[in-house]
Amino acid sequence: MAKRGAKLKAWPGLQNCRVPVVVTCLVVILVFLILLFCNNGKSPDSSFGYPIKKWNSFESVQFNPTTELRNGTDVIWQIPSLPKAVLFVAHGCDGRAANFWDRSSSCPNCIGLPEERLLVLHALARKFAVITISSAGRCWTFGEERLIVKNIIQWWAQTHNLESLPLVALGASSGGYFVSALATNLRFSSITLMIAAGKFDQMDITVNYPPTLFVHMPKDSYRQQKISEFIEVLKNKGIDAAEVECMEFPLSPSFLADRIPGMNQTVSAKLFELFQVKSFVDGNGYMKKDGRATRWKEALRERKNLVLDKSMVQHVQEELNLAFAYHEMTSLQSEQIFKWFESHLN
Ligand SMILES: *[C@@H]1O[C@H](CO)[C@@H](O)[C@H](O)[C@H]1NC(C)=O
Ligand SMILES: *[C@@H]1O[C@H](CO)[C@@H](O)[C@H](O)[C@H]1NC(C)=O
Repeated sequence: MAKRGAKLKAWPGLQNCRVPVVVTCLVVILVFLILLFCNNGKSPDSSFGYPIKKWNSFESVQFNPTTELRNGTDVIWQIPSLPKAVLFVAHGCDGRAANFWDRSSSCPNCIGLPEERLLVLHALARKFAVITISSAGRCWTFGEERLIVKNIIQWWAQTHNLESLPLVALGASSGGYFVSALATNLRFSSITLMIAAGKFDQMDITVNYPPTLFVHMPKDSYRQQKISEFIEVLKNKGIDAAEVECMEFPLSPSFLADRIPGMNQTVSAKLFELFQVKSFVDGNGYMKKDGRATRWKEALRERKNLVLDKSMVQHVQEELNLAFAYHEMTSLQSEQIFKWFESHLN
């Protein structure tokens, strides 16, 4: 709500307007408000309808993960005091376990991407033990890798006396397809498939298949169509299935600083200004294209007085993709995701 207040304050003062201008101003404000509320009414799950959490919103939770090598891959995990469930998280293509955790003395090679880290912080704050594993290759594979990951999760749960707790999983993109398949090898209480439709056209689904939440970006209409299809398939088999739609939202001068640890307001505002000058965003601050298709890094190189720390390029890229809402990891829907997990713990 604070964000929206700030936005409204930025409207030009009316006292300088002549009468026709006053009328125009009022009409513009009215249209803006109507659009705002229509948008909220049509899609109550949209990111834009929810307050956007800041990177440091979880002061009560601290990253203190353990990193180890198992079966040739890295496993990074953290167990809060009195855990109530276990969450396995699977990254997308080109991702890895290190993306989910901030760099610290306990994980010097960790990256802490903005959405991944907030997802883990949400989980830890809600007393989920979190285990992340890197895929062997660029993306997940669906043969032996399923057995390896199943064994790693079981071995780890056993080692830390977590076997009796409910086990849930969240996978994004390639990780979502992987989790949908892993759910036939390992018993999950429920799963969340993010920006992924799942492998439901290639598996035999039984009534024991876990309740499945699809968190997706409808702008990706091909996936949206598959997901609608698969929700019907699951429901027809008596399996609980639901979806959360993630919509695009506008950038603001403070957005990047709000989401990325170590980025200050000055750099954030200058980047936003650059995006405006280069027309990467429209007049309302919405990304015109996916972040990956936007030549913002090239534009930045031309700006001698604006230097972005190299370690933050990936972080900015992720937030731009998120705002465009076509295909990206998202933590904005964490409330709905963890409600789903919590309402299906057994
Ligand atoms: C994974 O590693 C463990 C311990 O080193 C080993 O016992 C197990 O056979 C390995 N699993 C696979 C599928 O390679
Ligand atoms: C913001 O960060 C930039 C780059 O890291 C730095 O040069 C600048 O001094 C910082 N500004 C403030 C106000 O902290």
